[in-house]
Amino acid sequence: MPKNQPDWPEPIVRVQSLSENCIDSIPEKYIKPCTDRPSMSSEDANFNCNMNIPIIDLGGLWGADQHVTDSILRQISEACREWGFFQITSHGVRPDLMDKARETWRQFFHLPMDIKQQYANSPKTYEGYGSRLGVEKGAILDWSDYYFLHYLPFSLKDYNKWPALPPSSREVIDEYGGELVKLCGKLMKVLSINLGLDERRLQKGFGGEDIGACLRVNFYPRCPRPELTLGLSSHSDPGGLTMLLPDDQVPGLQVRKCDNWITVKPQPHAFIVNIGDQIQVLSNAMYKSVEHRVIVNSDKERVSLAFFYNPKSDIPIEPLKELITQDKPALYPPMTFDEYRLFIRMRGPRGKSQVESLKSPR
Ligand code: OGA
Ligand code: NI
Repeated sequence: MPKNQPDWPEPIVRVQSLSENCIDSIPEKYIKPCTDRPSMSSEDANFNCNMNIPIIDLGGLWGADQHVTDSILRQISEACREWGFFQITSHGVRPDLMDKARETWRQFFHLPMDIKQQYANSPKTYEGYGSRLGVEKGAILDWSDYYFLHYLPFSLKDYNKWPALPPSSREVIDEYGGELVKLCGKLMKVLSINLGLDERRLQKGFGGEDIGACLRVNFYPRCPRPELTLGLSSHSDPGGLTMLLPDDQVPGLQVRKCDNWITVKPQPHAFIVNIGDQIQVLSNAMYKSVEHRVIVNSDKERVSLAFFYNPKSDIPIEPLKELITQDKPALYPPMTFDEYRLFIRMRGPRGKSQVESLKSPR
């Protein structure tokens, strides 16, 4: 591997293999400091019971009834400002395709290890089968494995880096990716309108048609000591928009709301949408990318598909001129998504420190 592109600092251990061999303890490498561990207090559990991220029905969004359209736009606007996270139903993606995509990936993770290892990834591009983010030696690791692949731009789409098994997985991923790109395009229009801009403005800020899209499939094996670790450490998503297809059986995603962690209760066949760092920058922090993390449990594995809709990777991303005023000067200097992603990939998930550190000093 060329210089400046380090390989993994330590041998890779698949969390799935650990899970199969750990009876009642976990390796120290996965034990989080006390402040980062999930809270299991009954007080928090009670608070959590009554809270959920907004659920928004998109049926009628583009229909003839202006009142319906306005109401949906308003709900999305409020969810973007107050939560940075919401669930959408009646989004137009077929439920059977959603189930098929999730189950195809579940089957992939249940293939024999030697087949999965053929797709083992490296920190150079992260494409393929992985078990850690960041290349810092001695880092505390998360209790999950994943698969990462590019869907767009076309130049990065490489079927050889997508799993060949289970049979028809490539067709399923292809169809699923196509539907999600369409859906993200619609949401980009909604967000533009809600920001008081021309409906094509955000897409234009992303580089027009030349956007990026990638899929990260997360596999969270059962964990004998879920109170000591996290499936995915607190982070905000670096890209533009994320469409998460969560496990239909097992909750685990937690979203930060003030000083609490709210466990998302997934609605059947909904997508969980969240704002990423690049939209925080373009919107000059009108919309914030919100921190989230994943907890694990001792009974059931969990599979989730995170689809990331990103700007063209080599154009400068900075607050849109229309959103800069005397009262609200630009909060961020321009930076390309390539530069931004490199920064994150070296360090692994770290709350919101990345986007915060971008802020222009004043
Ligand atoms: C992610 C993510 C959440 C989940 O992959 O960025 O936040 O529920 N996933 O797996
Ligand atoms: Ni995320």
